[in-house]
Amino acid sequence: MVPSSVYQSRVWFITGCSSGFGRALAETVLERGERVVLTARNLQNVENLATSFANQTLAVQLDVTKPEEVQQAVKQAIAKFGHIDILVNNAGYGTLGAIEEVSDKAVRRQFETNVFGVLEMLRVVLPYMRQQRSGHILNISSEAAFVVGAGAGIYCSTKFALEGTSEALAKEVAPLGIKVTIVEPGSFRTDFVTRSLVVCDTRIKDYETATENLRQIVQDIQDFKIEEQGDPKKAALAMIQAVDCENPPLRLALGADAISGINNKLESIKAELDAWKEVSVNTTFDQVVANKTRSNAIL
Ligand SMILES: NC(=O)c1ccc[n+]([C@@H]2O[C@H](COP(=O)([O-])OP(=O)(O)OC[C@H]3O[C@@H](n4cnc5c(N)ncnc54)[C@H](OP(=O)(O)O)[C@@H]3O)[C@@H](O)[C@H]2O)c1
Repeated sequence: MVPSSVYQSRVWFITGCSSGFGRALAETVLERGERVVLTARNLQNVENLATSFANQTLAVQLDVTKPEEVQQAVKQAIAKFGHIDILVNNAGYGTLGAIEEVSDKAVRRQFETNVFGVLEMLRVVLPYMRQQRSGHILNISSEAAFVVGAGAGIYCSTKFALEGTSEALAKEVAPLGIKVTIVEPGSFRTDFVTRSLVVCDTRIKDYETATENLRQIVQDIQDFKIEEQGDPKKAALAMIQAVDCENPPLRLALGADAISGINNKLESIKAELDAWKEVSVNTTFDQVVANKTRSNAIL
């Protein structure tokens, strides 16, 4: 149990607080008496939250693809609160389209937000966390970093990138007292499908069958025929639980769909590894000199 005095002094910096996970998390920690740097591309979208919790918030305009805004936002946060304890890299959006259908420009834009935006946040916040020898970084990834659907490859690849970055980062910053948790939600009822999904204009007939399933699910959600099961408020509570515990997980899957999807993926990888093991291991030099070869690949 974390004492309430700790809550009152903790400072969260959350990207993308206008809706969904970012908003739910900001509301929940504010209700518990913690302090939050509320960030949004359009400050009007966090105005009511900032007004309701005026003594606990700093509202700052932040588009994570603009390095000068990242620097300014963090500078203002430090000037107001003196420290940042928890950084939540939440801002993100999706792209719907087969790999060949998505233009180079759209791919780069997708990586600018979901990957390079996170990297910029890390470069600006980590010096403060390293100095204070404490901090916790939550990177909002997705079940999509494991379960890859046809038509979602570009979005999924950004989350794969985030997973690799986060795993290495966790090892790099652990000795400095900083923790990293990768959050992997399944399907949650946020604005993601209705507002934060860019559907690629280009359609290539050959991919229609492969991408039809995903396009239909998206359409059904947008037409309110089906609803996502996950509750962002409960996701927020789960994230807070992970932050509060002494040994937080490296990965936190959220939702029964995420658990079963990730489990299925791990099992299928294991089955394929086993099936092709003979072929895989038969690739070493015939004469291997003991003590001169590395047993674990790093690169
Ligand atoms: N909902 C799900 O089922 C689900 C599942 C797995 C992972 N996720 C991940 O959860 C995260 C949050 O999404 P959500 O589901 O909460 O959807 P959401 O309600 O649509 O929220 C997305 C947030 O990201 C912000 N954003 C997008 N691009 C930005 C940028 N360049 N700079 C700053 N903010 C930006 C949006 O701001 P604006 O209001 O300005 O657009 C909005 O606040 C995303 O990283 C997403 O990939 C969602």
